[in-house]
Amino acid sequence: MEVKNICCIGAGYVGGPTMAVIAQKCPHINVTVVDINEKRIAAWNDKDLSKLPVYEPGLDKVVEEARGRNLFFSTAVDEAIDKADMIFISVNTPTKTYGKGKGMAADLKYIELCARQIARVSKSDKIVVEKSTLPVRTASAIKSILDNTGNGSDVKFQILSNPEFLAEGTAVEDLLAPDRVLVGGDTSTEEGKEAMEALVSVYANWVSRDHILTTNVWSSELSKLTANAFLAQRVSSINALSELCEKTGADVNEVARAIGMDSRIGPKFLKSSVGFGGSCFQKDILNLVYIAKTYGLNEVADYWEQVITMNDHQKRRFAHNIISTLFNTVSGKKIAFLGWAFKKDTNDTRESAAIYVADELLSEQSNVAVYDPKVSEEQIYADVDYLNTRSSEENREGITVYEDAYEACKDAHAIAILTEWDEFKTYDWKKLYDQMQKPAFLFDGRGLLNIEELEEIGFVCYKIGSGKE
Ligand code: UDX
Ligand code: UDX
Ligand code: ADP
Repeated sequence: MEVKNICCIGAGYVGGPTMAVIAQKCPHINVTVVDINEKRIAAWNDKDLSKLPVYEPGLDKVVEEARGRNLFFSTAVDEAIDKADMIFISVNTPTKTYGKGKGMAADLKYIELCARQIARVSKSDKIVVEKSTLPVRTASAIKSILDNTGNGSDVKFQILSNPEFLAEGTAVEDLLAPDRVLVGGDTSTEEGKEAMEALVSVYANWVSRDHILTTNVWSSELSKLTANAFLAQRVSSINALSELCEKTGADVNEVARAIGMDSRIGPKFLKSSVGFGGSCFQKDILNLVYIAKTYGLNEVADYWEQVITMNDHQKRRFAHNIISTLFNTVSGKKIAFLGWAFKKDTNDTRESAAIYVADELLSEQSNVAVYDPKVSEEQIYADVDYLNTRSSEENREGITVYEDAYEACKDAHAIAILTEWDEFKTYDWKKLYDQMQKPAFLFDGRGLLNIEELEEIGFVCYKIGSGKE
């Protein structure tokens, strides 16, 4: 079967870039991305490409080429479902904030709503593709809803799992040249195999077939959680060592380099930081832990939970180090944050370490001054409000957001690097130093800057994982 019309439900960080690249690489396929959020769809349709709701290097060019040709953004969900022969579900699956599995399990209500809507609207056979990260065995729940809540017509559904492995900040690059594409489906029936081949053929327009893996649905779903758990585990492992390096006089970057050259370990994902963030790592590990507990596998659950424990500790320890270094009080002191996003080259702030570090400092009555090249003031306040530690008014009193890094750092007692944006390396650090309170402290939570040069200027520096000999 040849796919001619694709519909993607959810125009977020995953759905938007993924569909843009599919449309660019498959001009013969019509791709419609739908979302219930009208503001978001309007932004995807904005003539001014700098207003796209997702910031990703290179995405504007891809959208410019395909939009209006075979790539469409719309709020007409039913119409797009009806027309499509393949439907991607790419809606958010946050950690549950209520009820059973609160704080651990994935909240599947958005997925379920999508499945019910697809069942209600469909008049012809559809291939439904899970793109959102989901707990293992969600596909069977989707299938049961699709098969049992239909509109009475004899429509057949095939469910595939096609996890997304793109990383934000390099989404376009990752989509154009993926390490692998994974397609899970019903390998026991001809219809299942046909549906898998239909999706494989879409990707084969630009990805070589030996990079496209096919597995059963459960392996595919579990691989996504496992990949993120392994990646996050590497970051927590190196972060655990960063604290030991600081105590012993070792340097975590030297250690990372030395171990990374062992081909069994490899050099990537060994950058020590103030803690990992992003919408996936924590959520997926919590999910894995919850699933393990559900099956009574307590040792397995405890093992993976430590990755989160370590990450929480790393964020807290960075904040506490700022407080103790500033003579045990930051009350009334301006602390400038360079960066708020969870990593560079994205405007996404979900689970960013900056939010938690700010929260600790605000509890100590610090004045936090934030500059981030891509994150809006509105988002920064929303992130801190979401923690519910204090009132929204108090958060606005405690945090000031700046559009200029030099203004943010003026009269500050300390600068903290929370995101590794390239532009921070090019600043006139002498000028920043001159405008600060003395002693001028610098806390590099990303190991981004040349500390020797900064110390020569006069800064008192702390760099994550760097021990004094
Ligand atoms: C290890 C280190 O590899 C080596 O660099 C160091 O100098 C000494 O310790 P060794 O213990 O000889 O070497 O063997 P290694 O190949 O690392 O295996 C250790 C154990 O892990 C073995 O029992 C092996 O069966 C097991 N293993 C290894 C697995 O179970 N799975 C794997 O994927 C790899
Ligand atoms: C991740 C996975 O990489 C991707 O495959 C999956 O599809 C979604 O989740 P993402 O969260 O976008 O992608 O970014 P990633 O590059 O993995 O970084 C996650 C966090 O880990 C960031 O906060 C980053 O700063 C941090 N990190 C990463 C480190 O602190 N050190 C490292 O060495 C690598
Ligand atoms: P991700 O990082 O997984 O892409 P986002 O939160 O960025 O997550 O995007 C998910 C999008 O899905 C949001 O824009 C949200 O409005 C949309 N969405 C959620 N439920 C539905 C639904 N039932 N129909 C259409 N869109 C939905």
